[in-house]
Amino acid sequence: MIRINENFRKLPSSYLFSEIARKVGSYEVSHPDVKVIRMGIGDVTLPLPRAAVEGVIAGAIDELSSDTFHGYGPEQGHDMLRHAIGENDYRRRGINVADDEIFVGDGAKSDIGNFVDIFASDTRVAVTDPVYPVYVDSNVMAGRAGELLADGCWSRIIYLPCTAENGFVPALPSEVPDLIYLCYPNNPTGTVLSRSQLKEWVDYARANGAIIAFDSAYEAFVTDEDVPRSIYEIEGAREVAVEFRSFSKTAGFTGMRLGYTVVPREVMALNSDGTRTPIRDLWLRRQTTKFNGASYVVQCGGAALYTPQGKTQVAGNIAYYRENAEMLLSGLREAGLTVYGGTNSPYIWVKTPDGMSSWQFFDFLLDTCHIVGTPGCGFGPSGEGYLRLTAFNTHENTAEAVSRIRSFLKI
Ligand code: MLT
Repeated sequence: MIRINENFRKLPSSYLFSEIARKVGSYEVSHPDVKVIRMGIGDVTLPLPRAAVEGVIAGAIDELSSDTFHGYGPEQGHDMLRHAIGENDYRRRGINVADDEIFVGDGAKSDIGNFVDIFASDTRVAVTDPVYPVYVDSNVMAGRAGELLADGCWSRIIYLPCTAENGFVPALPSEVPDLIYLCYPNNPTGTVLSRSQLKEWVDYARANGAIIAFDSAYEAFVTDEDVPRSIYEIEGAREVAVEFRSFSKTAGFTGMRLGYTVVPREVMALNSDGTRTPIRDLWLRRQTTKFNGASYVVQCGGAALYTPQGKTQVAGNIAYYRENAEMLLSGLREAGLTVYGGTNSPYIWVKTPDGMSSWQFFDFLLDTCHIVGTPGCGFGPSGEGYLRLTAFNTHENTAEAVSRIRSFLKI
């Protein structure tokens, strides 16, 4: 009989957010009269920007339902969207990225998970801790993580603790990794790296032949001039960095599914004979083989976000969620909680009160305040003692959540 990929059996039985959804689902069934406020998974609440809706209608209804119909598109995305991304997200901001270095996909999560396909099976991976679980789990599936140890770490993964003590800024590793995942603004801590802090990582990668997988899904929340929105704002990054971006949080595309990955021509990896291959060529090969492109209809919606109306509407959505983040930060501080992030970011990283564990605080918030957060320990060992809240709910629910926490929490 066919045998399974044993690496899958090493993983915890369910993905973090599926586990939380299951718990909350059964809580709601047993408490039907309770209004649960969801601030767990970073899912947005505002409807799609009108420009995206009109783009979808034009692409779906007008174009595909008449003799302008077309079927398969380019696997790496339609030119109109790649060009709009290149112009607006990079070149107009003085960043050198060519359209054919942009690969449109069906969301950053898939691209991040799939990207590991192109590297050797013994690649050494470094992650910040706590961390978005996809970076770790996808490498476990690929057999690179080693074994899960009692302390919650994987034996072959290099962990870079991000704690209150180091200001959530990871130190450069002493053991040299091949692939370094950085996510800034950070998921889950909501903290950021300054330009000079990110430059240290780029310099480190250049000096050590490492590649940085830079997840900038939350760049739209950055307001601080000294916080880079793209790693390519840093000199030398084109030689060592791949950047993942998402339309989910900026334009409410969590259900639509659209994102993109930038792979500059200069980023190289070693062949077994010591020569080098541009990883862009491998990613192109991987995508053309295993992916038939993001839905054309959704790409039309995405391209419409770059029109003047689309840009204004996206900016409005981001401003709305920023206000929620401010409300959470100030309200939770007034409730006596210690909180981090929330500025330049939609995530608020809350220190659990009274020495509660992450899961104890999760249960307390759900049972007492009927609020769903994400237990920090689900993001890695250094997340124990924290809980993540998101700013993606409505103003009304965010205000209600703050008021519930303030009335039930006696610190
Ligand atoms: C999160 O809550 O961390 C994100 O929404 C998950 C994701 O984007 O896949």
